[in-house]
Amino acid sequence: MRAATLLGAAVWMGAVNAHLAAWHKGMYCLNGNTGSTDLNSYAIVSPIYQQPFSGWWMHGFNNCNQYPPADGDFLDLPAGGSFSVEIASNRAKTTLSYNGQYTSEWPDGSTYPEDYNVPTCITSPNMHTQNQSQAAGTAFAISYESDINNVTPDNLAVFSVRYNTPWKREIQYDVPAAMPACPAAGCICAWGWVPNGCGQPNIYQTPFRCRVTGATSTTPVAAPKPPVWCEGNSGACTKGAKQMIYWNQNERNNIVVSGLDQVGEPKSPAYNSKLGFPDGAQEDIFTGAASSGGSSSSGSPASVVSSAAAAAKSTAAAAAAAVASSISKASSSAPTISTTTASSNSTSTTSTTSSPGRQRKCSAGRTKRSVTANTELTALHADIAGHKRRHARRAF
Ligand SMILES: *[C@@H]1O[C@H](CO)[C@@H](O)[C@H](O)[C@H]1NC(C)=O
Ligand SMILES: *[C@@H]1O[C@H](CO)[C@@H](O)[C@H](O)[C@H]1NC(C)=O
Repeated sequence: MRAATLLGAAVWMGAVNAHLAAWHKGMYCLNGNTGSTDLNSYAIVSPIYQQPFSGWWMHGFNNCNQYPPADGDFLDLPAGGSFSVEIASNRAKTTLSYNGQYTSEWPDGSTYPEDYNVPTCITSPNMHTQNQSQAAGTAFAISYESDINNVTPDNLAVFSVRYNTPWKREIQYDVPAAMPACPAAGCICAWGWVPNGCGQPNIYQTPFRCRVTGATSTTPVAAPKPPVWCEGNSGACTKGAKQMIYWNQNERNNIVVSGLDQVGEPKSPAYNSKLGFPDGAQEDIFTGAASSGGSSSSGSPASVVSSAAAAAKSTAAAAAAAVASSISKASSSAPTISTTTASSNSTSTTSTTSSPGRQRKCSAGRTKRSVTANTELTALHADIAGHKRRHARRAF
């Protein structure tokens, strides 16, 4: 079965070890991190591990946070509805390049069985899981700041979670019904994923420009608090708005775990029930009840947002001491965490001795491309071959 799968994937076999991210025209780094248009970009899919804050926050380590989407391109979030993005290893495997001719149902353009299951971990595509039921979960978060430089862990709240992902390319996330409108220049969103084992215990955080459509409530999103491990004890979960998961970085982590989970594997925080995230829209993230008829009575989105921002700032200040204390604890124990959480299911090709600079090298080593599609495709193969060589002794 595996051989047949690989045969079918022959054309794109070079991409089998690529990582994954969420794609949409409203994303940062759509064109890559060089400033030119790149239909085969994949700078955004690099995982984040043992980075300083400036490196892990909003994918700063390879400058993806400095390449915003084109003017007017937003990820639209319909209040009470859902939105779609594509999970893929490379822009070429999405509908955002080549009219989608290199896409499949899966994130890497190849075809796999519906019940795809590899007990030693699926590596093609690199989903960091054995099968769908083991997939850790992914999330979207929102900040009501329009300038990415003003987004902080204290104003970026998880508003949607999808259990058992990443899996297929097409994915939908649900939006809370009470999401208030964004400022005229939009909000900043981020996609997140923390795999559970099957390789390096890294995290993913990728930025988007987004906006809420069809908002009816003006009640702001509350200042988010760090999630905590609460598997099997929902009373211990962080209630209300939660931060994204910041883990295994060199500073400003917001969660510490130790010991084993209920199935006997090292605890690995993720966007799922183990941290108290329900599947779907996070309806409990607001400072209070939804206001009804707010959009007609209280005027422009801008006034909504300034009140939201003011509320967020005051609550953020109140929460700061607690957050700071948990962060310092997290930082001091980070080296232990990354050792103990290295997966027991890592393949023999996986090591835990990676350095923070390694991902930077991957992107720095990319070759310059011409603008024609054929040349870019050729360059993609060369790039991926080089990337594979550099990672030949590792699986992520
Ligand atoms: C998924 O993988 C886990 C871990 O290897 C295994 O226990 C479970 O049976 C698998 N489920 C399916 C449906 O293959
Ligand atoms: C690790 O692999 C073993 C053997 O395939 C399996 O029984 C176990 O459930 C796996 N662990 C995880 C976290 O899936």
